[in-house]
Amino acid sequence: MEIKQVEDYQAMSEAGAQLIMETVNSLEQPVLGLATGSTPEGVYKRLIEAHQREKVSFRHTTSFNLDEYVGMSGSDPNSYRYFMDKKFFDYIDIDKQKTFVPNGKAEDLQRECEQYEQLLMDHQEIDLQLLGIGTNGHIGFNEPGTPFSTKTHIVDLAPSTRKANARFFESEQEVPKQAITMGIATIMKSKQIVLLVSGERKARALDQLLHGDVSEDFPASILQTHPNVQVIADKAALSRV
Ligand code: GLP
Repeated sequence: MEIKQVEDYQAMSEAGAQLIMETVNSLEQPVLGLATGSTPEGVYKRLIEAHQREKVSFRHTTSFNLDEYVGMSGSDPNSYRYFMDKKFFDYIDIDKQKTFVPNGKAEDLQRECEQYEQLLMDHQEIDLQLLGIGTNGHIGFNEPGTPFSTKTHIVDLAPSTRKANARFFESEQEVPKQAITMGIATIMKSKQIVLLVSGERKARALDQLLHGDVSEDFPASILQTHPNVQVIADKAALSRV
């Protein structure tokens, strides 16, 4: 893993946006893996600005999001589809038909997982996967204890994850109990992975990622074994390292 230390959230967002632009601008048919949460929001803002300045076009880009809450439709403001539309896709020239987010409302969730994984395989590989990290080391919604071999699947969210994400909802009770997520094996197939880490809230997780063992108890630790990972972390996130 390559660690890039930056000053703050702004600098992290700038660096992340640069890497994505390099990928999108250098490939004919780029495939991006995208993430939600507070961490990548700044990256999306910068990419929108760059698009407006005609520095990047997403016309030929396909995107796959990591995860979605079970039971939420894309019109629900707390769904990840809604997040992606409102924070990014609505402001760029990507073809919405080529932006994929798991369908949390699918009647047959198991089948939805299989189809999502198949769709990813049909596109061969993700060129660049953007990731955040949960305070418990989750990536996507792969909670501690998830086998490294998992593909897209349904997860029961850990109580700590529901608590951490309650800030986006009226109350913790409203946070869904399940989600669909790309599996760890799915994520690891990406050619390049860019992990963004910002703030003291993530300092313990980052320390464990950099110095802990590779273990299913800490899902992000698998990234230590991937050949092309850039961790972009700000000073506050690196304060325990
Ligand atoms: C969420 C998402 C993850 C995200 C993580 C951190 O639950 N499923 O993809 O990376 O938790 O979120 P944040 O960036 O808001 O701290």
